[in-house]
Amino acid sequence: SANMARLEVTETFHGITFPGHLHTQDSLHYATHFKFQDTDTLIVTYPKSGTTWMQEIVTVMSCKGDTVRAQTQPNWNRAPWLEQYYCPDVLNASQENRILTTHLPYNLLAAALSGSKAKVIYVARNPKDVAVSYYYFHKMAKFLPESGTFSEFLSAFLEGTVHYGSWFDHVKGWTNNARNIHNFLYVTYEEMSRTLRASLERVSEFLQCPLVEEELTSTLKSCSFSSMKKNCMVNYSLIPQEIMDHRKSKFMRKAGKIGDWVNTFSEEQSCTFDAIYTSRMADSSLTFVWCN
Ligand code: A3P
Repeated sequence: SANMARLEVTETFHGITFPGHLHTQDSLHYATHFKFQDTDTLIVTYPKSGTTWMQEIVTVMSCKGDTVRAQTQPNWNRAPWLEQYYCPDVLNASQENRILTTHLPYNLLAAALSGSKAKVIYVARNPKDVAVSYYYFHKMAKFLPESGTFSEFLSAFLEGTVHYGSWFDHVKGWTNNARNIHNFLYVTYEEMSRTLRASLERVSEFLQCPLVEEELTSTLKSCSFSSMKKNCMVNYSLIPQEIMDHRKSKFMRKAGKIGDWVNTFSEEQSCTFDAIYTSRMADSSLTFVWCN
């Protein structure tokens, strides 16, 4: 109901807003001072860009297509977020081949990553679809502030006052600094959506994790939208309804579609967005696929 208390506690860290109970000052400090190991794989995304998808891909791939781990351990334990408060319990320095996740912007992790040979996979998604996905996520994720109308949310998204800050700064921060990162792979949501097999081959080569045909096929199958939607270790249905309310909007919302934004953006919102995009991305060579 409208009276339902939100779990919202907003905190600022280096000028970026975070839900305070999920990301305490201590957990953010832990993340920015993290000791990476060369065998680590770090999945980096702006929220709603295909994080969960890449967590599943890297998990199953590192198990050579065996799905037991993906079917028995929640994604937040097998590929924990560096910046969430429970992370220190999950991460153990004696563990090799750790899979880590972060939504933090580059400037907050640059020092921790400097000199590291950890493998960094950056997943980006066209920002109109990100904005719509993030808007619906605000409706179901009770730890985030009220989204308001789409128009209000879109303004906040474009201004970068949403959690984790500006999409533009995030994507440009990581990709424009890619040369400073020893092992860096850039993948898009749209590429995965169109040619998942080819994306899996790129990831497998990058991770130096060669797969035989049946291992690749098994990975491909378990990372499909329909398998992931059914897998409670990855579809967030294990999270209590007070924290994530799937009645408001499912986590696995649309069938991995490109260009769903047209159903939410008005023509005017799209024009405004395009103008801001053009000016904010003038110093980036990235291009995105906007529709199917
Ligand atoms: P939509 O809200 O557009 O449906 P993140 O994991 O970064 O929070 O991103 C969530 C988005 O990725 C959601 O987008 C979700 O449906 C989509 N997604 C997750 N797994 C997917 C898969 N296997 N194939 C396609 N899209 C997937």
